[in-house]
Amino acid sequence: MPDLRDQFAAAGQGHVFHHWESLDGAAQASFTAQLEAVDLPLVSRLGALLADRSAPLSPALAPPVVFPARPGAERQQECEEATARGAELLAAGKVGFVLVAGGQGSRLGFDGPKGAYEIGPVTTKSLFEWHAARIQAAGLRHGFQPRWYVMTSAANDAQTRAFFEANGHFGFDPADVFLFQQDMLPALDAEGRIVLAGPGELFLAPNGHGGTLAALQSSGALGDMASHGIEQLSYFQVDNPLGRHADPLFIGLHDLAGAEMSSKVVAKRDAAEKVGVLGLIDGALGCIEYSDLSDELRHAADGEGKLLFNAGNIAAHVIRRDFVEALTGGGDLDLPWHIARKQLKCVSESGAQEERAGVKFETFIFDALARTTSSVVLEVLREEEFSPVKNAEGSDSPETCRASLTAIAAAISGATASAVELDPRLAETAAEFTSRPTTADETPRGVVFRPAEA
Ligand code: UD1
Repeated sequence: MPDLRDQFAAAGQGHVFHHWESLDGAAQASFTAQLEAVDLPLVSRLGALLADRSAPLSPALAPPVVFPARPGAERQQECEEATARGAELLAAGKVGFVLVAGGQGSRLGFDGPKGAYEIGPVTTKSLFEWHAARIQAAGLRHGFQPRWYVMTSAANDAQTRAFFEANGHFGFDPADVFLFQQDMLPALDAEGRIVLAGPGELFLAPNGHGGTLAALQSSGALGDMASHGIEQLSYFQVDNPLGRHADPLFIGLHDLAGAEMSSKVVAKRDAAEKVGVLGLIDGALGCIEYSDLSDELRHAADGEGKLLFNAGNIAAHVIRRDFVEALTGGGDLDLPWHIARKQLKCVSESGAQEERAGVKFETFIFDALARTTSSVVLEVLREEEFSPVKNAEGSDSPETCRASLTAIAAAISGATASAVELDPRLAETAAEFTSRPTTADETPRGVVFRPAEA
């Protein structure tokens, strides 16, 4: 122990041992394990960021070049070629699926991994199950056996694994599902001191979805992809069951452009919608978070009266495996750190529970866009591909998401009930759907359609 104590004391973090003597043997052992995992040089660098009082820079912002959702006739051939290329990569099993589900989803107020939230408009299908079904649908349509990589964090890993087990991995062979964990980071107080959640427990938080890149590497997921011939990663978030993870057009446009990382966007609902927008930041592609866009730019219009910064980030990317390898290969990814100021429930030096102003640190996957030499930004239609579950009520809530799922299912099936559900495996193979008899579910809540094999 003296070693560890000395290291923390030398880093100005000796206070973490304040309650050490009050801990029993087991508590000391688990606390020691937490402390050993802390990257003290990194914590010092993060603390220095807090101490830096220099005025924030104001970068030059510009809208990106966007491939439109409704391309004109002049782009038809390009679209056809890209779609064929994407389908070819899918059929050859060269696309792997990466779901990021390590976040805490606190806004939804749901106790458990967000992916376990039941979102089916009619059934109790969870977000995880929707994603699983969508991926399986791609396998059915293009004739390959998909591999699914799911990122969790220490905050929800055990619960997520248990949920996958309890649900038979949603029809996947467990050998085709690769669960891996992102890193956690200690939260700091305003003076850069590590915050304790309890006498023998650090206040830890996931290190942001930028942590996906390092975690793919350290977990062996990248190696696993290589050994299975996977060259492209289809990356998506847990909160959007409308996501089309195996979109041949997107994959093909990205591949034919020789892009390292590409993105899907939707036109913003209005200037006030709280999504990040893709844009050029001092000439480099990136995502400008809602709070970083001035009022003036948020409302600025282009020549046609549309919002200038209109490319709403839906956090769906295709990323080349060798790009991730190159970024992570040197051991230091060096994505910029973003600071989230929060009230943290923690323990004081006297041992009392209190709330204190603190800071969590995260990196964001979209900051890797700045490292690309080529990148495609594809606009897609919101009603087809984006209806996330973020808030308990109001916009982007379970209610609006179920309505979106119902609208899609109703349009495909012709059903008119207030809640309609279409198994994604069937939705992806809609051509077959028309020739297959449908079965109405008994449930009074609505109508559900399932493919024969589901
Ligand atoms: C995010 C984007 C925003 C975009 C919106 C679209 C950021 C900072 N902003 O906002 O530009 O318009 O999605 O829906 O990302 N996650 C992890 N580990 C973490 C943190 C997050 O796996 O450490 C995962 C979550 O589980 C979730 C996803 O990343 O699947 C999004 O995280 P969240 O913090 O909810 O992002 P938003 O604020 O909604």
